[in-house]
Amino acid sequence: MTAGLATRVLTADTETIGAAARLIVDGGLVAFPTETVYGLGADATNGSAVAKLYAAKRRPSFNPLIAHVSDLAAARALARFDNDAENLAMAFWPGPLTLVVAKAPGCPVADLATAGLDTIAVRVPAHPVARDLLAAVGRPVVAPSANRSGHVSPTKAEHVLADLAGRIDLVLDAGATTVGVESTIVGALGRATVLLRPGGLPRGDIERVLGRPLAEPPARTASADDDEDGMLAPGMLASHYAPRTRLRLGAIDIRAGEALLAFGPAPPNGAEQAIARRSLSERGDLVEAASNLFSHLRALDGAGAATIAVMPVPHEGLGEAINDRLTRAAAPR
Ligand code: TXA
Ligand code: MG
Repeated sequence: MTAGLATRVLTADTETIGAAARLIVDGGLVAFPTETVYGLGADATNGSAVAKLYAAKRRPSFNPLIAHVSDLAAARALARFDNDAENLAMAFWPGPLTLVVAKAPGCPVADLATAGLDTIAVRVPAHPVARDLLAAVGRPVVAPSANRSGHVSPTKAEHVLADLAGRIDLVLDAGATTVGVESTIVGALGRATVLLRPGGLPRGDIERVLGRPLAEPPARTASADDDEDGMLAPGMLASHYAPRTRLRLGAIDIRAGEALLAFGPAPPNGAEQAIARRSLSERGDLVEAASNLFSHLRALDGAGAATIAVMPVPHEGLGEAINDRLTRAAAPR
């Protein structure tokens, strides 16, 4: 069991990345930055390391994990890419895109990591620390967001510690992540190519490369987190990313006792009575808003408000992923 570890935090550099890679190869758990959010990495080929990872996150079930690799060549050892998957990988890797594709025969990833499915989620991250780490490990690394199951994803090393201190070996600290929401997940399984989770790569960019709209998944969309979804319906939990405080979305005024999560230049009516206040982006920039989303939610969650009032965020570009996370965080639970 991982509880009771002394979790070290080290500034990411050549030496500490090398040490982190050795820890992973030895079966340890290492949180590291990607351009989207911090991930909790384990050797994807080591079933007991993967089991330890689920336990460290206090994940109630074995929802499948994303295998991170350093390039498309390494990805081909894990999975079969159809035409669409091939085109998307070429266009957007390294970057905030995860592809769910058919597992290759002889794929070395532990069955526990894919929850026994015959598909696998694969991603090549762009963050230089993630890239150096993956190159040094030389094996696929599974990495869910490095938060306690059900919590907001971490965009800073301190968020990782707040959730996982004492349960993992190491946090590689490289400051705040740039994208701030998780990767976009696209399923490319030879049938329709579907958007499973909106994320850091806007839908429009993907559709431009495909030359047609993405299909909607058959049931509900995949969850951006990894809670009680079970193996048969991975990533389909509506409520997650839960701040403890209730969220009121689309707020155009502020009521007594509320904290304010603002967007854009114009404050809502009654903003001056908010008991705490953060702005996703004063200039109304969706890229900036995505990068601030989770750290502002964490900050406001700690303010002791009854409710966090969230101003409307336009549903375009990264706004689709932002609204998806906000809706899930606001879902009753
Ligand atoms: O940006 C990200 O994607 C971050 C960084 C660390 O890479 N990772 C991340 O992982 O968000 P996680 O475990 O928090 O979310 C992965 C999602 C889950 O909802 C899971 O159900 C889904 O991917 N998933 C994984 N394998 C799948 C599969 N074979 N089919 C469908 N969904 C899958
Ligand atoms: Mg997650």
